[in-house]
Amino acid sequence: MSATEQIEIRRLGVTEAHAQLDGLAAVLADCVAGGASVSYLAPFSHEQARDAFEAVAAEVEQGRRLLLGAFAYGRLVGTVQVNLALAPNQPHRAEIAKLLVHRSARRRGIAQLLMEHAESEAQAAGKTLLVLDTVTGDAGERLYTRLGWTRVGVIPGYALYPDGRPCDTTVFWKALA
Ligand SMILES: CC(C)(COP(=O)(O)OP(=O)(O)OC[C@H]1O[C@@H](n2cnc3c(N)ncnc32)[C@H](O)[C@@H]1OP(=O)(O)O)[C@@H](O)C(=O)NCCC(=O)NCCS
Repeated sequence: MSATEQIEIRRLGVTEAHAQLDGLAAVLADCVAGGASVSYLAPFSHEQARDAFEAVAAEVEQGRRLLLGAFAYGRLVGTVQVNLALAPNQPHRAEIAKLLVHRSARRRGIAQLLMEHAESEAQAAGKTLLVLDTVTGDAGERLYTRLGWTRVGVIPGYALYPDGRPCDTTVFWKALA
């Protein structure tokens, strides 16, 4: 990140989530176009990406999920989610999902900032244990290791890349102090 670059990370409530639907969809569609294994297969349209974030906004409204946005000079360039709504016997646990940074904004520390804020927001919501999974060998895996997450192990062939090739997944956890 250049010294002059302004990155703002903030939690998006339901109103702002709706206002930012096109920006969120653009980031998701760009990540899928770039080959990221984040639930979707190619071809994946902007409209499909909007639909995905409409569903996220509904969960934000219900208090089931936190949604964060990263803004560079006011433009949404990254996002991450915290799924709060887990089983009744896991009230202390949350899951991090869909850490996405637009390809044009990568390698400036934006994902790291998003994760630091997501962890703080989860803690503020009373969570003491976080879990996530990510494609084995990708930038995400290095980032989570850097941020002190504990690697559980690898599940071979867990999901598919957008082009249909199988990919392995690494599961991580982190206890919040
Ligand atoms: C994984 C992902 C979120 C990382 O986003 P990012 O904003 O580029 O992440 P960061 O900038 O924090 O770190 C990425 C790399 O840039 C480096 N970096 C950070 N700031 C930097 C700077 N100012 N100058 C040069 N390099 C920098 C980091 O050290 C890191 O290096 P590494 O890959 O060798 O470990 C992004 O690649 C992405 O959206 N991928 C597709 C979706 C995905 O796989 N999500 C994760 C699982 S859901």
